[in-house]
Amino acid sequence: MLELDHVTKDYVGPGETVHAVRDVSLSVEPGQFVVLLGPSGSGKSTLLLLAAGILHPESGCVRFDGQDVSHMKDNAAAIYRRRHLGFVFQHFNLMPGSAVDNVALPLRLESVRPPEARERAREMLGTVGLEKRAEHTADQLSGGERQRVAIARALAGSPRVVLADEPTGNLDSERGAQILKMLHDLCRERDIGVLMVTHDSRAIDFADRAYQMKDGQLSPINGSATEHTGMRS
Ligand SMILES: Nc1ncnc2c1ncn2[C@@H]1O[C@H](COP(=O)(O)OP(=O)(O)OP(=O)(O)O)[C@@H](O)[C@H]1O
Ligand SMILES: [Mg+2]
Repeated sequence: MLELDHVTKDYVGPGETVHAVRDVSLSVEPGQFVVLLGPSGSGKSTLLLLAAGILHPESGCVRFDGQDVSHMKDNAAAIYRRRHLGFVFQHFNLMPGSAVDNVALPLRLESVRPPEARERAREMLGTVGLEKRAEHTADQLSGGERQRVAIARALAGSPRVVLADEPTGNLDSERGAQILKMLHDLCRERDIGVLMVTHDSRAIDFADRAYQMKDGQLSPINGSATEHTGMRS
């Protein structure tokens, strides 16, 4: 479904050129949970931006259902993101407005009419256990509740793949583990692929495949579910 094929990305800066992603190949299939760990600056966020068609690679390409999305014009790339992707980012703050407004947003962008968008947004909030917080604004929610709204928003448009960058980075470890499990279970149920960046090595336990990223290169981590069993659990 989502496939990075020998992708390379350099940033040409004021001083040296940064080789942020070096010859990375990776795929995410429906219902798969793929985890990337790695130190700060190793290229993890860059890799997600490449997967989203926001950055263009120097070489290699990113395909979605066999179609090259890495050299698309901005408009076409925006449509690709809206149709097929959901995002949960640590610093991807909620918009002003209530939880239900936030979750309804991707549906509104897909021209779902407001009453139906709100109805479906409420349902999604119920799925993440926030039916009673639907009218709260972000500043009236706890950190974990905000992340659950972000998950509900990411899933509301029925994406095929969710890209998640440190979705539990702001949370204490117990809440972080709960959110991780929720994201995993919801995506597995709905056959949504997940590509997630995290510093939390417990994510390896949930992963169908896990990779360590270092200096822009990926190496598989033994111990992820696939490595144990050879198949999805
Ligand atoms: N716009 C940019 N221009 C120049 N260099 C950049 C740019 N964005 C990132 N870099 C550099 O590219 C490398 C990879 O950055 P990236 O943000 O992908 O790392 P990361 O693994 O997500 O780190 P963190 O865990 O801190 O979020 C870093 O060395 C960073 O300094
Ligand atoms: Mg990052």
